[in-house]
Amino acid sequence: MKIEGKEYRTIWFDEKNQAVKIIDQTKLPHQFIIKDLKTVKDAINAIKVMEVRGAPLIGGTAAYGIVLAIMEKNDVNFIKKSSEDLIKSRPTAINLKWAVDRMMKKLSDVNNNELLKVALDEAKTICEEDVKFCKNIGLNGLKIIEKIYNKKKETVNILTHCNAGWLATINWGTATSPIYHAHKKGIPVHVWVDETRPRNQGANLTSYELNEEDVPNTIIADNTGGILMQKGEVDMCIVGTDRTLSTGDVCNKIGTYLKALAAYDNNVPFYVALPSSTIDWDIKDFKDIPIEERNSEELTHLEGLDKDKKLKKILIYPQKSKVMNLAFDITPAKYITSLITEKGVCEASEKGLKGLFK
Ligand code: MRU
Repeated sequence: MKIEGKEYRTIWFDEKNQAVKIIDQTKLPHQFIIKDLKTVKDAINAIKVMEVRGAPLIGGTAAYGIVLAIMEKNDVNFIKKSSEDLIKSRPTAINLKWAVDRMMKKLSDVNNNELLKVALDEAKTICEEDVKFCKNIGLNGLKIIEKIYNKKKETVNILTHCNAGWLATINWGTATSPIYHAHKKGIPVHVWVDETRPRNQGANLTSYELNEEDVPNTIIADNTGGILMQKGEVDMCIVGTDRTLSTGDVCNKIGTYLKALAAYDNNVPFYVALPSSTIDWDIKDFKDIPIEERNSEELTHLEGLDKDKKLKKILIYPQKSKVMNLAFDITPAKYITSLITEKGVCEASEKGLKGLFK
């Protein structure tokens, strides 16, 4: 998708400099910086500090992390240790483990002198597949938006939480892909963007990328969705997911659950968009999903431009207060209208998911 009119992906391999390129998302929306990852440590750090974030992009970065490890030291123990360190870099998004496991399986019986080539090809394939999957999620979700528009004949208002946009994937996004497809088809859409405290991925990333594609959107405080739904100003919600259980329960950015409850109470359809790489077929009980607890500074401090347009971080809470910063919550399947996947739209249940993914 576009930034200042130029097409980008969120991650790519720079053959000339033998480096992985990423857009540093910690600096958006105020600075657009492309960064080089040259070592597996760079990749691990980029995931940890959220220069890259969003489940599919974390997976893509981890895949390239294995490539970087091989470039550094073509040694089986080093590659194995690197794969373990990559998996530990963030706990909740299942795409991370999925991508590392897939890379390691692919490399399991490859000769040493072929390792780098095979790894690079596989990392590129993982990213290409994600683009294709996200595009198909868009085409499948487009039908839902079209249906609402054909009935309403007016702008379709869609609420989304966090950033499940193209910046969270390789391209298109998951939750935003149906929106971009509708917009490109000329269907009038308007997006209510949850700010998404504490890191403000909604305001800083979703609104930013929608602006760059000229999609009308309005940032709202996280607590505003409820009243908008009561006033009939939300036609549908679409969110992403970091881990979807085979039961249809969905783990996504903190606050998703409360939005789903409000949608349920107001008969507003609540959709979750996901590529199959986000499905955890092993865990059955959502209580077993590791929920990331992040640094309290994300809550206590805010970063933005000062009056001289310089980036500044300020403390906004009482210095002595205790804070807690859980990054994800669970939305039980019963509150989800449908899952939108690359293979089609299905019920949020084992039956629904197994019907699409045998
Ligand atoms: O903590 P983040 O920014 O990595 O969280 C991102 C989300 O929760 C997204 O909604 C999710 O990864 C889906 S991305 C297509």
